[in-house]
Amino acid sequence: MRQQIAAANWKMNLTYKQGKTLLDEILNSQIILEPHKKVIFAVPFPYLRMARKKVKERENYAVSAQNCHQLKSGAYTGEVSAEMIHSMSVGYVVIGHSERRAYFNEDDSLLAEKVNIALDNHLAPIFCCGESLPIREAGTQNDFVAQQLKNSLFHLPAEQMQKIIIAYEPIWAIGTGKTASSQQAQDMHAWLRSVIAKQYGQPLADNISILYGGSVKGSNAAEIFAQPDVDGGLVGGASLNSEEFATIIKALK
Ligand code: PGA
Repeated sequence: MRQQIAAANWKMNLTYKQGKTLLDEILNSQIILEPHKKVIFAVPFPYLRMARKKVKERENYAVSAQNCHQLKSGAYTGEVSAEMIHSMSVGYVVIGHSERRAYFNEDDSLLAEKVNIALDNHLAPIFCCGESLPIREAGTQNDFVAQQLKNSLFHLPAEQMQKIIIAYEPIWAIGTGKTASSQQAQDMHAWLRSVIAKQYGQPLADNISILYGGSVKGSNAAEIFAQPDVDGGLVGGASLNSEEFATIIKALK
């Protein structure tokens, strides 16, 4: 059974103290998680260690970085390497978020490098993809998103590809309050799974978790996550509120 995942993407929000309080509130809310369910907190770099310590004893909880540099090490002031992240016992990294693509000019080939260095350092990439509004309006979103996967992931051998978590996040739904309908999410997820199946075979495609992201909140999570090809969500705004995020975790199927 593939993993159902609620991933919190804090982005550049919360002070250290606020982050600690939020984690405590969620971890203390006694949510029962069956073994196929997982909660991942993608926190800012300076909070990784604190978050790792807090979730340490909880089997279904994990911590993720929000980015990493594409190179191993060197004179890149201010950057953080995949090796550094792994050395703090963190197991995941978000790669290719649309905000990084848009504001930091990260393109598909750079993201392929980041995916490689992450996997080389035992980090599971949460790989983000998704189309802008003009692409959706032109009706070419399926080809566009499939191409993002091909360009950044399909060079991987199957044993590496199976470690990837995909997050489909239509850009027009991120932080806008506008969610894709559960049917739109399902259609894209089923399409992406078929594209992966064509490249890697059906069993591998059936095991990959594909998360939906874009204005997921407590009130819509259950309907979106209920779709057969939606395996949970990558949640921005609503992950900053413990009650909202707890409701989202409980909506995992
Ligand atoms: P949002 O962000 O939930 O605030 O729309 C999702 C994301 O960017 O990962």
